[in-house]
Amino acid sequence: MPSKEAVYLSKAAKAKAREKLDLLIVNANELVTLSGDNQKPRIGKQMLDIGIIRDGGLAIKDGRIVAVGKTRDVAKAFKAENVISAKGKIVLPGFVDPHTHLVFAGSREDEFQMRIEGASYMEILDAGGGILKTVRDTRKASVEKLVENGTETLNIMLEHGTTTVEAKSGYGLTTRDELKMLEVMQRLNQMHTVDLIPTIPGAHAVPPEFSNNPEGYVHLVTDEMLPKVAEKGAAEFCDVFCERGVFSLDQSRRILSAGKKLGLKPKLHADEMSPLGGAELAAGLGAVSADHALFSSDEGIKAMAERGVIATLLPAAAFSLMNGRYADARTMINLGAPIALATDFNPNCWIENQQLVIALACHFMKLTPAEAITAATINAAHAVSRAPEIGSLEVGKKADMIVLNVPNHKFLGYRFGSNLVDKVIKNGRLVIDTEASRSEFRLLEEQEI
Ligand code: NIG
Ligand code: FE
Repeated sequence: MPSKEAVYLSKAAKAKAREKLDLLIVNANELVTLSGDNQKPRIGKQMLDIGIIRDGGLAIKDGRIVAVGKTRDVAKAFKAENVISAKGKIVLPGFVDPHTHLVFAGSREDEFQMRIEGASYMEILDAGGGILKTVRDTRKASVEKLVENGTETLNIMLEHGTTTVEAKSGYGLTTRDELKMLEVMQRLNQMHTVDLIPTIPGAHAVPPEFSNNPEGYVHLVTDEMLPKVAEKGAAEFCDVFCERGVFSLDQSRRILSAGKKLGLKPKLHADEMSPLGGAELAAGLGAVSADHALFSSDEGIKAMAERGVIATLLPAAAFSLMNGRYADARTMINLGAPIALATDFNPNCWIENQQLVIALACHFMKLTPAEAITAATINAAHAVSRAPEIGSLEVGKKADMIVLNVPNHKFLGYRFGSNLVDKVIKNGRLVIDTEASRSEFRLLEEQEI
């Protein structure tokens, strides 16, 4: 691994030195690069080395990072019309959110109340609520309405520093309705600044039409839905809600294997409510990730570590289940399993903010801020197969980054409940500037006086 204080200038970048750049960022109190050997997700102690450069600077050209180093070196070598001072602040890679149910219609605040009063998530689902309530609302909604909802969510995610999200369909549960949801995602990806990676969890729940014939639904997914989705290139990953009373281990294996044959990379909702063996299945399939993993066995975690399957942990989902149980992240780290963090944004767990996920991970799963940052950036990028492009601030990567209004990275998780984002830079463009909007607000206030 290069020394933390090194200047990472590529040969080409050196040759272009002093050339006019799109953007220069200087004087970051901490430039958190996550640079190093990023071929594989980080495990164990590797999660602690987040590649901090003090008084860091970074140069951007054509939406890509062309230099990273000490401010004095980068500023000497490069000139740009646009310069951002990050004095007193920190710069990080934009957050990657590798597990969201981004697109849906309606809401479930009544169920929130029921859960406060003691009803469990599975009881609500068994009674035809939960996912099935959202399926009813989403089937009725137009593409336009779903695009509007998705845009609103992506705006808030971006404001909180997320620059790439994985997005699952799964509230259609017919081939036509799942394709409708995936079309919404394609439109969102085209029109919105945030990059979107589509996943098809066709087996998210057994729809009411198949309540007496769940095997029939599994066949619909394997024989019709997944082939159509793959043919259209509408999704990159395939997902299953592998859970007692939803889809069994065997059904999940068949669905994910069918998807894999069609080129859809497997992911699964594993061991969320019970120790079903989802982690072992994920390892056996060579899945990209097993998500939730609240009840995964040590054997399952060891098997995941051996296969390099990422445990995508969703502490906000655990928080919203209200049973006080969180994934055993420390054991996972000790056993060498890679972990990532995601919001699990969905109508049961309505959270757009990866900063709050980091705070929950620190408080309830005892991750240090450095480990949580690793999990929400470079490891999250691995969980969506995008690590060569995003998740760290290294020469050649996409210029997706955030400036946070805190003096060092240890404030992440420690200071929570408000948005720490000062600026968001996406593809080298300044897309969110909280400082500017705050000063506009001050101007407005002055005028009113
Ligand atoms: O990740 N557990 C299954 N799926 C989602 C929840 C979806 C929903 O309740 O609408 C999850 O927790
Ligand atoms: Fe989920």
